[in-house]
Amino acid sequence: MSLFHHSSMESEASWWLQFLHASLYFLIFSLTIIFSLFILFYYVRPRFWCNCEVCHTYITSGWSLQFHNLCDWYTHLLRNSPTQTIDIHVLGNTITANPNNVEYMLKTRFDNFPKGKPFSTILGDLLGRGIFNVDGELWKFQRKMASLELGRISMRSYAFEVVMCETERRLMPLLASVASKNNSNVLDLQDVFRRFSFDTICKFSFGLDPKCLELSLPISEFAISFDLASKLSAERAMIASPIIWKIKRMLNIGSEKKLSEAIKMINILAQEVIRQKHKAGFSDQKDLLSRFMGTVSDVKYLRDIVISFLLAGRDTVASSLTSLFWLLSTHPEVETAILHEIDRVLGPNEDLVNFDQMRELHYLQAVIYESMRLLPPIQFDSKFCLDDDVLPDGTFVKKGRRVTYHPYAMGRMEGIWGPDCLEFKPERWLKDGVFFQENPFKYPVFQAGLRVCLGKEMALVELKCVAISFLRRFKIELAAPHRTPRFSPGLTATFSGGLPVLVRERRG
Ligand code: HEM
Repeated sequence: MSLFHHSSMESEASWWLQFLHASLYFLIFSLTIIFSLFILFYYVRPRFWCNCEVCHTYITSGWSLQFHNLCDWYTHLLRNSPTQTIDIHVLGNTITANPNNVEYMLKTRFDNFPKGKPFSTILGDLLGRGIFNVDGELWKFQRKMASLELGRISMRSYAFEVVMCETERRLMPLLASVASKNNSNVLDLQDVFRRFSFDTICKFSFGLDPKCLELSLPISEFAISFDLASKLSAERAMIASPIIWKIKRMLNIGSEKKLSEAIKMINILAQEVIRQKHKAGFSDQKDLLSRFMGTVSDVKYLRDIVISFLLAGRDTVASSLTSLFWLLSTHPEVETAILHEIDRVLGPNEDLVNFDQMRELHYLQAVIYESMRLLPPIQFDSKFCLDDDVLPDGTFVKKGRRVTYHPYAMGRMEGIWGPDCLEFKPERWLKDGVFFQENPFKYPVFQAGLRVCLGKEMALVELKCVAISFLRRFKIELAAPHRTPRFSPGLTATFSGGLPVLVRERRG
């Protein structure tokens, strides 16, 4: 009986305990919901409350009825704005194509327009404390160290050596093999250039050769992980609120799980390369990593520094090569003029043998600048305003607001380039046959001011080497000649559907 009584008391107590637990859970659950709704309401509210025509067109994707790409619609808005600056309220983003504003952000008030926390959080897992992802002292230290190393003559000749080797030993044999197949000589040039630029940037930065452009076009696990990690990191920026991906990351589910696995793979490889270099000695090696190892000993920091170079120098180069060859295939007169200049400067049957010969190719340099004016690899770039500010055109910018300069739109502004701004005219870069550099704030393709791209010279070497070897030996024809480029969303401009071309030997 007592036993029964005791157990009934026990069960009553346990019932109360369960009830208390359930109530507590319910309370916590309700509070979490209320708190999340409050956060969501607080951050997202201004976005959904704007009913202006521009925001409405953005939310409903109404722009796609008239324009192929979002950047074309922004260009249209910027061309029609009296200040060449617009506000997309739903995105909390001020976008400008006004060179005075660009100079103000990137030089005059550089300290008030850092990359900012929202950007560094998005890329933080992949890039860590690497130069591309930090501000302040961390950035200053890496910038100084990298500028010193990249400015050395030995570094330039190493870059030239790496690029020439990849061009002559991999790219040319691959093109020759495709051209020799009479019925199946179609090749996706964008894919080829992505492989080319990955091999070169890995060799240049790491001293590691992933061999992506071997004849069999092998699949490199490192390239796959790197692609996936950059793609998924960029996709974080496209989600309406960062809370969503942060929760997914916390729970390690979906795209965040894949991202973390890809980053793990990159880390294993990077750490292995660093370990082997420590073991074998790095003082006589020419790649960037070995040079940085003389100053930095922290393995994780070294990994971060080098991964930034991979991200900065891979897709940008592939994108610029793809656009260049697309424009050349639709402007045969420009291609002919390039070939004449190469023959005149190098000699009709002479190969390119050193870095200095490229400096004399003024027309080729003009073509490259002109192609990136119309199709910049980085179409827009954002900063976050630290304290309330006013741009030179009178636009007020509130603390914490995103401000974006838009090289793609800037290349299409009549006020900057004149009434023929939409035409592909390399001559606009030449004065008496000599290339002249425009004001970089009118042409921020490599950014400008204090954080201007560190790999510009390397990129120009890659573009020129490929153009010279490729055009002298092969002709291409677009496999889909009437298709206008559509860009895939991402950090760098990529042609959706690639660039399929037919390849033929020029003197075949
Ligand atoms: C055509 C090719 C290229 C273009 C159009 C380009 C463009 C740019 C742009 C717009 C930025 C500024 C990004 C930002 O701060 O948000 C940048 C930064 C940078 N680029 Fe390039 N880039 C190219 C190739 C390269 C290459 C090949 C390398 C490496 C060898 C490289 C290394 C860097 C680095 C390290 C930064 C960060 C500089 C800093 O924050 O101080 N880039 N680039």
